[in-house]
Parts: sequence; structure tokens; C-alpha cells
Amino acid sequence: MNNETDVLRVGHAVLLRELRPTDLTPLVHIWSDPDVMRNVYEQAWTPQECADMLARARREAAERPRRVYRMGIVRRQDDTLVGTITVELERYSGAYVRAAAIAPSARRQRLGLEAFHLVSCLVFEDLGLHRLWCACLTDNLPAQKGVLRYGARREGTIREFVNLDGTWRDAEIFGLLDHEWRTRQDEDAGLLATPA
Ligand SMILES: CC(C)(COP(=O)(O)OP(=O)(O)OC[C@H]1O[C@@H](n2cnc3c(N)ncnc32)[C@H](O)[C@@H]1OP(=O)(O)O)[C@@H](O)C(=O)NCCC(=O)NCCS
Repeated sequence: MNNETDVLRVGHAVLLRELRPTDLTPLVHIWSDPDVMRNVYEQAWTPQECADMLARARREAAERPRRVYRMGIVRRQDDTLVGTITVELERYSGAYVRAAAIAPSARRQRLGLEAFHLVSCLVFEDLGLHRLWCACLTDNLPAQKGVLRYGARREGTIREFVNLDGTWRDAEIFGLLDHEWRTRQDEDAGLLATPA
């Protein structure tokens, strides 16, 4: 993979691309942050665990058929990796969007919202799937507000979805269907981050 072919989707302020070996330093910054990782149902990772996950992401990107897209969210203005997001393809034409994370220093600029939009383009247009869903811890209200803001619907609660530090935690499920997404495209344009 070279740098020109590893970009999956380009937005106004951010793009989605494959993770590169040179991303390790910013990835450690994001994936070793306990607050970020708690909300993506993980413990903070060590630099070695981050390196292992980066290697795994690159193996997954080369698999055919491909099942997992573990991507970097890159701010176009300064070519900085500001976040990560993962799409796992499932049966029945569905995709599970997970582990969305924006570095604390880059939050509240609608970069997360635009990344979710780009993931939706990838899932519905590029991959031709019918449905995407994601799960947010029940107490993660910022993330829930974000997915609702983008037009996903709350579909229910998964009881005791994940065990964090010895406690089982519930999660709220949100879903978006391709035809719902297509009817929202004009509305979405006004929601996204300001062009770089
Ligand atoms: C959730 C997360 C990805 C949002 O990223 P972000 O780039 O800061 O979010 P955006 O600026 O795109 O915000 C989009 C919408 O989400 C909501 N939102 C985001 N952060 C919020 C916060 N701290 N408080 C309240 N609402 C918030 C708002 O509705 C916002 O829309 P607005 O700008 O019109 O108010 C980021 O906070 C994060 O990485 N959190 C830790 C990991 C995590 O929770 N991942 C989600 C797992 S389901």
C-alpha cells in the first residue's frame, strides 16, 4: 500500500485512511489514554499493545475478502492523525462501527461527526451494505448525542454488554439504515466540520 492508495474517504476537514507504520506515536497518544479507552470498552494499551494492534490493522487491511476496516481519522489541514474508527462487516449486510475515538485535544470541532459521516459513505456507498450499528456505554452521553445528531436511531439496550474493571456495563444500541441515510444527505452537509 502506498500513501496514495490507502485513503478510503475524503471529507472537508478529515479523511479516513489505512493505518500506517508511521502512525504509531499518535496512536499511542490516543490508545494509551484511559478515558478514551474506557469508552471503547478497553483498558489503556501499552506502547507494545498499540504496536501489535497497528500490525493487526495492516494484516486485516490485506485480507480478501476483507472483514475489518481499522482506520485512521486524519485532519487534512495539518495531516495529523487525530483519531481512529473501526468497521467490522457482519452477516445480513450489516456493519458494526466501533472504537471511534478522537484525541482529547481535537474534540468538539465536529471531526467525530464528519468521521461518522465518512464511515457511513464507506458502508452504504462503497461497500453497498444495508445497515450500520454502534454501541455506546449507557453513561457515555457525549457519544450518544453525537450519533443521534447524525440521524442514527436508538434501538435498545444491551444489558451487561461489557465487563470493565470487574463491573458489567450496559450499552445503548444505535442503528442507521441505508435508505434513512440517503434521505438525510442535504441535512448532513450543514452538520459537518468546516472545510480545511
Ligand atoms: C465521542 C467522540 C468520538 C466525539 O468526538 P468529537 O469530534 O469531539 O465530536 P463532535 O465535535 O463531532 O461532536 C458531534 C456531536 O456530538 C455531541 N458531543 C460531542 N462531544 C460532546 C460532549 N463532550 N458533550 C456533549 N455533547 C457532545 C454533540 O451533539 C455534538 O454536536 P454539536 O457540535 O452540534 O454540539 C469523542 O468525544 C471521543 O473520542 N470520546 C471518547 C471515546 C468514545 O466515547 N467513543 C465513542 C464510543 S461509542
